[in-house]
Amino acid sequence: MKISMLVSLMTAFSIVIGNAGELVEVHQDHTLDHITFGSCLKNPSGGVIMDQVAKLQPDLFVWLGDNIYVDTNDRTERFDKLYTKLGNNPYFKKLQSTCPNLAIWDDHDYGNNNRDRSYPLKSEAKKAFAKFWQIPGSSPIWKRDGIYRAHEYGPADKRVQIILLDGRWNLDKQNTTEKDSYLGAEQWAWLEKILMRPAKVRVICSGVQVVKINTMHNGWEMWGRHPEERTRLFELITRHKINGVVFISGDMHVAEIFCTTKTAYPFYDVTASGMDIAHPHSGKFLTKNADFKPVGPPLLDKNFGGIQIEWGANPKLTLELRNSEGKRFHSHSVPLSALQFKP
Ligand SMILES: [Fe+2]
Repeated sequence: MKISMLVSLMTAFSIVIGNAGELVEVHQDHTLDHITFGSCLKNPSGGVIMDQVAKLQPDLFVWLGDNIYVDTNDRTERFDKLYTKLGNNPYFKKLQSTCPNLAIWDDHDYGNNNRDRSYPLKSEAKKAFAKFWQIPGSSPIWKRDGIYRAHEYGPADKRVQIILLDGRWNLDKQNTTEKDSYLGAEQWAWLEKILMRPAKVRVICSGVQVVKINTMHNGWEMWGRHPEERTRLFELITRHKINGVVFISGDMHVAEIFCTTKTAYPFYDVTASGMDIAHPHSGKFLTKNADFKPVGPPLLDKNFGGIQIEWGANPKLTLELRNSEGKRFHSHSVPLSALQFKP
């Protein structure tokens, strides 16, 4: 266990309360040098890959959704049953004891495949999610239309925001081009406030891919299926000149890095999925168009992702895809200075 982790465990985090909905958990004594993340764990008693994550002794692990597969419209008991299995999983326990774990949900742990705002068990799902991920009764999620929230780590000169989006609670699958068909009005307003807070790096966590628009697999969900909302997200970052944004995402049963350079600075999206599912979709994932392109090859093995941050006078981020043995399959380094608006 890293010394910084020990410090983190011993030091209570502070909570910043601003205007309504602006509450953020700040862990300023816990600097993030290595953020890891993954998604899609089909067997809550499996997931030996969690051992490989733990071996790296990261500073954080983010669960990007489909963390369990509830897959029901009426059997409420499945939430507790599957979360209990995951909680009893020794690999999970080891990962939990190694570093802080944060989580969002995607469709399968929200409740069922591709479900949206109309899902009948959404309140039950929220209670089960909060109980399992130890989100306290004082958390702002209880007053919100979803589980979105944010954590901040490290001192001011190394501050990293982890922005945890909820892409399910307000999702409107029937009116995909409508305003607020993705995050909902309240979450948009909250996101804008969060992004205005000072930070060096901002990791925006989404259940589904943000940058890529996949034209070859129509069944897969992504921000690109709500094109106006995807544009709105990029314009929000642009309008306020928000620096240091990196997206991470899950869902796809493949790991890959995509990038768009049609924005003021390159927006990267590191997709890590799945932790115990290797889905041979073939190289069709390397789709590209004028708006986005792959950064390196896709990883079709079980996987997790990472962002290593070398702090210092000229901080550098290394985006990485790791295979089932925990080895780097592909990485891409970018100076933090390249993720900035020009003065
Ligand atoms: Fe999913």
